[in-house]
Amino acid sequence: MNRHERRKQKKLTKEPPYFKVTDMTPFVLGSYIIKYKVPMTMINEINSQYDEATDLQNWSKNLAGKIRDEFRVDDILSEATKNTFTACFQKYLEVIQKQLWHVVLSNAWINDMRAGEYNPFHFHSSTISDVGLSSVLCLKIPDTYGVEYTKEDEPSNGWLEFNGGQQDPLSISQLRQNVQPGDLYIFPYTMLHGVYPFNGTDQVRRTLSFNCSLIKPGLIEESEMQQEYTA
Ligand SMILES: [Fe+2]
Repeated sequence: MNRHERRKQKKLTKEPPYFKVTDMTPFVLGSYIIKYKVPMTMINEINSQYDEATDLQNWSKNLAGKIRDEFRVDDILSEATKNTFTACFQKYLEVIQKQLWHVVLSNAWINDMRAGEYNPFHFHSSTISDVGLSSVLCLKIPDTYGVEYTKEDEPSNGWLEFNGGQQDPLSISQLRQNVQPGDLYIFPYTMLHGVYPFNGTDQVRRTLSFNCSLIKPGLIEESEMQQEYTA
């Protein structure tokens, strides 16, 4: 390599001048989805309670899912499980800096989803509040979700997807997740979400959803006062 070539090489490898910037902190405006990891002892407990239950109420007529086996499970869940959900809902409020809301647990149900079934995109509501949180806790997944009919490098079979409702090119509008047993997602119940169908297995994909209403403290006090007055 002659001097001219050395100089050319040096010029090519030399980094352009810049000031090193540190401590990048992203701030996000809009709705949050928070993912927690629940201990497998809780997952195993819920699976056993569900498998041993004999007279659960089929809840599919109240749900969006194209899923045959959707059962209401509030009554069979332990106090520890309910308290864990309440704590995770409260933690969510802490993260979004809205701790004024009072968490009131509502319905819980389990979806046993089989090949070919799916959960269309939907959102939730409540009869007692216009504000609330929903959740998805993964209890078990099949060994395979079968064949991806196109684009194997972009899987969707059996995956949970959230739609943020904002297609701004500079925003994140969708989140698709391959949920695993123990994963718990909490999100506003007005956020669109759905689950894609899968194939090629007889095993079930089992999730539990627990919803909560968020009530202003003033309303709780008012209702307590009313109860006292009418008692
Ligand atoms: Fe849902």
